[in-house]
Amino acid sequence: MTMKAIAAAILAAGLSVATVGVATVSAADQGTHDARVAMMKKIGGATGALAGIAKGDKPYDAEAIKAALTTISETAKVFPEQFKPGTENASADSEASPKIWENMDDFKARSAKLGTDADTLLAQLPADAAGVGAGLKTLGANCGGCHQNYRVKKE
Ligand code: HEC
Repeated sequence: MTMKAIAAAILAAGLSVATVGVATVSAADQGTHDARVAMMKKIGGATGALAGIAKGDKPYDAEAIKAALTTISETAKVFPEQFKPGTENASADSEASPKIWENMDDFKARSAKLGTDADTLLAQLPADAAGVGAGLKTLGANCGGCHQNYRVKKE
């Protein structure tokens, strides 16, 4: 292994530890509105980073794309854990629809699908901005589909 490869490996390991660290909320935070929103904001931020590259606002950056996809994948896989039975009324500000608890299997499947779509893109990393844009379409369908069914927009 060259020094450069070792440095890259350490950096990659550090990045994934960092993303896991942020995605993991403390036990006391489980099922709270804040924990759910924090996770969605992470997913939103990562999606925004990809959109910046797709639109050409930011240069193509394979590491940044990997980091964003990893954040989406890891966060989507644990997101449904924030919707345990009895947490339906987590907050007056909650945009989580009661339908989530009525259709938990579908809700979980949708979150898992976002995770596996991100994994597929990680495995075949988009090679240019157009590729990132195409990947975003796939990812974005998951956002829209779940929000339409399970997010009640509050003004
Ligand atoms: C499995 C369902 C599901 C998927 C998939 C999903 N979301 Fe969400 N999202 C929600 C729910 C539920 C809320 C409302 C959370 C609340 O208020 O408790 C939400 C809220 C949000 C919010 C608002 C957070 C805030 O500040 O209040 C953003 C931003 C967001 N989602 C972005 C995304 C993006 C981007 C994607 C796709 C890459 C995505 N979501 C995919 C269910 C989902």
